Amino acid sequence: MLDDLSRPGFWQACEEQVAEARRMFARLIGADVDQIAILPNASIAAHQAAAGRRWRRRRDILTTPAEFPGIAHVWLSQPGARVRWCGTPAGTVNTGDYLSQIGPRTGLVSVPAVTYRDAIRLDVARIADAAHDAGAAVFVDAYQAAGVMPLDVDWLRCDYLVTGTGKYLLGLPGLAFLYVRHPGGPAPALTGWLGRTDPHAMRATVLDSPPHARRYETGTPAAAAVYAAVAGLSLVGGLDLRQVRHHTQRLIAAAAQRLAAQGEVVRLAGQVDAQGAHLALVEPHAEAMAAWLGHRGVIAAPRSGVLRLAMHAYTTAGDIDAACEAIAAYRHRSCTRPGGIR
Ligand SMILES: Cc1ncc(COP(=O)(O)O)c(C=O)c1O
Repeated sequence: MLDDLSRPGFWQACEEQVAEARRMFARLIGADVDQIAILPNASIAAHQAAAGRRWRRRRDILTTPAEFPGIAHVWLSQPGARVRWCGTPAGTVNTGDYLSQIGPRTGLVSVPAVTYRDAIRLDVARIADAAHDAGAAVFVDAYQAAGVMPLDVDWLRCDYLVTGTGKYLLGLPGLAFLYVRHPGGPAPALTGWLGRTDPHAMRATVLDSPPHARRYETGTPAAAAVYAAVAGLSLVGGLDLRQVRHHTQRLIAAAAQRLAAQGEVVRLAGQVDAQGAHLALVEPHAEAMAAWLGHRGVIAAPRSGVLRLAMHAYTTAGDIDAACEAIAAYRHRSCTRPGGIR
């Protein structure tokens, strides 16, 4: 990006990167480029997915307390809609919880492909079939899944899919993708010059919308995040994601076993297949633990009472050993006990 910035025609080079990011992401999820919009974050992408939906006869949006809060807030903010929750208030949920609550009033079913806190992986395709049978649309937040496991919109059978580039897609925060199966619906109220049929026509007096997903776009994207998205997607696009999934599952099983032997409390899905690519270690002071580990080169993300240890294609068994040893050393140094017992 810095090289392009130092040459004439930076904006044109940046537009080519945007087009490349769109192409690469479309390929990753088995979509068409015309079904992909590029937006600044997943929350805006969710707003755009909801744009123009009429919450009248089918006014229920089915989601879960395990949903990433920003996405749930978008649903709560929809005028006229009524949010229905499935799973427990504490944030555990399974596929059956969704299946049992889809009904004739459900207009939209919002499913995290993998939950952000505990890495619960839901059976999106089964939920989508039930939702469609009931006449509802399906929205998938794949932020915790894209880049680290195979995702294909045809086998997921979703109507919308959202993800950002800041996690397993190995890019930066500042860019999200919205997949829309049928992008020709009502034009969204949130718009900008990139949402026009021909953005370069620069007609201030005309508000038209192309029949493809660019209609959901707004203004100039964050250039650094766009370049990073292309770099990250070219790494991820060269991987066999089935193998990556297999690899991360093996590492998670090894980490869980080792941490349990150290007396740690980990939240693990009952079945291997229902676990995403991170492990949630129960720790009420996860921020303090993450800061201590960070100084020792173990980067883990604290979130609402858990420390998340994330795996990717490049994670090794040696990394797991190092993380587990550092956690044991933290317990010793901080005089804290696993699971928050002090
Ligand atoms: C599941 C999930 N969805 C969405 C987001 C981010 O949403 P936004 O891009 O609106 O900040 C995250 C970030 O942690 C996430 O884990």
